[in-house]
Amino acid sequence: MNKLIDKHNRVVDYIRIAVTDKCNLRCFYCMPNEGIDFVKQKQLMSYEELLRVANVLSKQGVSKVRITGGEPFLRKDIMYFIKSLSEIKGINKIAITTNGTHTLKYLDELMQYGVRNFNLSIDSIDKARFFDITRRDMFDTVWDCFEEMSKRDLDLKLNAVVIKDRNIPDLIPMVALTKDRNVSVRFIEEMPFNGKGANYQNLEWNYKKILQHIEGHFGTATKLQDEKNSTSLNYKIPGHQGSFGIIPAYSRTFCGTCNRIRLTPMGIIKTCLYDEGIFNVRDLLRAGATDEQLLEAIQSAIGQKHKNGFEAEAQRKKNPNIIESMTTIGG
Ligand code: GTP
Ligand code: 5AD
Ligand code: SF4
Repeated sequence: MNKLIDKHNRVVDYIRIAVTDKCNLRCFYCMPNEGIDFVKQKQLMSYEELLRVANVLSKQGVSKVRITGGEPFLRKDIMYFIKSLSEIKGINKIAITTNGTHTLKYLDELMQYGVRNFNLSIDSIDKARFFDITRRDMFDTVWDCFEEMSKRDLDLKLNAVVIKDRNIPDLIPMVALTKDRNVSVRFIEEMPFNGKGANYQNLEWNYKKILQHIEGHFGTATKLQDEKNSTSLNYKIPGHQGSFGIIPAYSRTFCGTCNRIRLTPMGIIKTCLYDEGIFNVRDLLRAGATDEQLLEAIQSAIGQKHKNGFEAEAQRKKNPNIIESMTTIGG
């Protein structure tokens, strides 16, 4: 087996597949209130096309798939896709990033397919602030989902984007959640992908400030050993059962160990979250490409993978027409 290796000698063994750009929330840092021009059914990668890509990549050492969106559980027959993915030899970890509004009813079945890794997006544990950020009144549903999931034998992570003037009062109570629960609460630096072309030079609530704020309350946190390709810097408050993490998504300190590529709902391969998209797999497949041709195209894209998110962003800025919403990238 030939592994997928980029020109900076990083092995790619992880693909993030955004199965839909639709979402029933409107987190303001991700999507405008009126939504975006959602992809039409025919333009979406079909499940057969997605499975074909996963199959080809699994033979080159890709062993982890994260399903993202939009909100993955809004796509019709998503369980058919996840079941089929779980049957591919070589794919040994399926992870899901979800907003928790439709997840619970599928949980038993997901566990049957061996899915144990869930990242649940919840930016506030205060109902009013949750509404302020997501513009939808779904806090109770998401909280119930969290409570139920935290009782199961899962690898559960909470994702909270840290946003100035919106959810800073949540940081301490969210870390406090880890006292009696074996969960990891991750605080994410906000990135400029809100579907309106947001652009900023400085991010006030960067990972250093987030840590300072938490330690200002709880005292010095214990640094944990991070997993090999982790995006989060992980810590524990002494005596707490769970842990917390900070994701320097904007500061991009983790690019040196990046092991991932992305596939958007329309079939665009991105080798970096900050790049402008390399090529369209869907078009290639619909033009009749063989598995060999598909692999060649993906290998060539990986060959061009930028050294880090800053290089990718600089390249992308040359094309001022690109305004992306995180819901079309999948995070
Ligand atoms: P795992 O690596 O599977 O643990 O995934 P994750 O925790 O990175 O994924 P998740 O979907 O929960 O994303 C959490 C945050 O990290 C989101 O804001 C993502 O956009 C961000 N993120 C994930 N991957 C990258 C990346 O490659 N680069 C940057 N800059 N941010 C990323
Ligand atoms: N900046 C940082 N994280 C974001 N996410 C969505 N939009 C942004 C943004 N602009 C997060 C979601 C979800 C994950 C996939 O990406 O909250 O947890
Ligand atoms: Fe939906 Fe996630 Fe975007 Fe919020 S961040 S609008 S939950 S896709």
